[in-house]
Amino acid sequence: MVKSKICLCLTGKTLDEDIRYVNKYRDFIDLVELRADCLTEDQQLKIREFPQMIDVPAILTVRRKSDGGNFSAGEGSRAVIMAKGLAYANLDKTKNFAYIDLEDDFNVPSIEEAARAFGIRIIRSFHNITGPVQHIEFKIQGMSRFNDEIYKIAFKPNSLSDVSRLFKEAEKLEKKDVILIAMGSFGFATRVLSGKLNSFITFTSPSHESGALQAAPGQIDPETLCKLYNFRNINEDTKIFAVTGFPLAATKSPLIHNKGYQLAGINCVYLPVPAARPEEILDFSSALGIRGLSVTVPHKETIMPFLDDISPSAIKIGSCNTIFRKNGKLYGTNTDADGFSKALLDFLGRKNLKGMKISIIGAGGAAKAVAYGVHALRGKACIFNRSLEKAKKLASAYGFKFASLDISSSNLLSKYSDLIIQTTPIGMLPEPDKDPIPFYSFKGHEILYDIIYEPSETKVMKRARDAGCRVSNGFSMLVHQGALQFEFFTGMQYPIDNGLLEKITKEK
Ligand code: ATR
Repeated sequence: MVKSKICLCLTGKTLDEDIRYVNKYRDFIDLVELRADCLTEDQQLKIREFPQMIDVPAILTVRRKSDGGNFSAGEGSRAVIMAKGLAYANLDKTKNFAYIDLEDDFNVPSIEEAARAFGIRIIRSFHNITGPVQHIEFKIQGMSRFNDEIYKIAFKPNSLSDVSRLFKEAEKLEKKDVILIAMGSFGFATRVLSGKLNSFITFTSPSHESGALQAAPGQIDPETLCKLYNFRNINEDTKIFAVTGFPLAATKSPLIHNKGYQLAGINCVYLPVPAARPEEILDFSSALGIRGLSVTVPHKETIMPFLDDISPSAIKIGSCNTIFRKNGKLYGTNTDADGFSKALLDFLGRKNLKGMKISIIGAGGAAKAVAYGVHALRGKACIFNRSLEKAKKLASAYGFKFASLDISSSNLLSKYSDLIIQTTPIGMLPEPDKDPIPFYSFKGHEILYDIIYEPSETKVMKRARDAGCRVSNGFSMLVHQGALQFEFFTGMQYPIDNGLLEKITKEK
């Protein structure tokens, strides 16, 4: 496994803008890539001075549109910009570009000769921005011209299987300096685990907040790479964990787990790995030696047939959100119910739900874990759901009541209103204006726990709060289910007492 260098891609319109990004991330990077194709034409004339303006080794790249860049004029003009970047080489090499990116089909010998004469290393690159590249070894052999070049292949995977194949192929590659990248969300692991691919460089972009253009899909900013993913400390001994689902939009789980590893001082990393099918994540996990998986929609149920053993609670709930190896076997369990129970009891300041009459809104996957938790804590509940059949099925597993989710149930909801637990996705982004119980008027005595945490206050939470009710969103459930997973994965207590919950809540 190599120690990859962190490169910041500079996609500013002006050199001044690029210099601002370099200064912002200076502590987290080893080199930069000046994407001259993003500069305005007058700024392109000034690139020769750039290396000495920043005092960080720099790659000169003029990326064509067809390779994911901005350059649309002809190859002649592109060569002229490169020549401008290389001209009048300084004897002090730090004042020249350190590398130049030349595509596999770029054939201007004078540029290559100039680069070699001035000690500027050539990155020979091949990009496929619409699909995968297979047979990496043959591809590199085909690109190979001189032994001093670095070979870069970047492609867009169609699925996680394309990324698994890249990791498998990379292991067998003959020793050469290579850069291997699978772009986009499927390929995110290739950014963080670039060392496992023996990649010479991993590329990053300034954060979205800085207003910069992301140089390629899937890149993150170098500070997040170092601080959240602990990039500098990843080595052969690092234990890898992941969260999977599809499409696996913004997930807070990497924050919860990676912060936990850092506070506990253990050599682990946790990545988001989207997979369209459960088979793909399991194959990816064995290819990379992933030790544990958090599983989210839509795989919590469909992954179960692939496991060797499943905990009784996961069988009763009917889904697994946690998978890890136990005695060499793939073991699945569910921490949603216990995570929910812990979060709820903390919020209520109680030891159980005895004597409480509780409404559970919804009867889907999340409601199954909630119903399990409410029953285990000895609460009495009524399940309200749009599909009455599903409400009935779930309620009958625990001896609860059930009813339809409409105005005809408002009296029944009033009777079960000590605690209302909202489990449907209604009110979640991108539709924050929706309300799952618009027919119900809060009186003020109800306690509302909405398992949604994005947005942090849903419409129904606001209505309840305005009526004087105590309300909580589901962020604490997310943290507690993650903390329990951490314990299964690492065998250690989650360092939650360090005020981590508050810290994470602030960072979110
Ligand atoms: P999850 O795993 O997130 O709970 P799910 O299993 O698809 O997701 O369940 C979604 C829940 O939200 C279900 O209870 C669903 O009601 P139905 O069983 O009637 O489908 C409920 N739900 C989703 N969208 C809804 C809507 N627009 N109106 C009412 N209920 C809705």
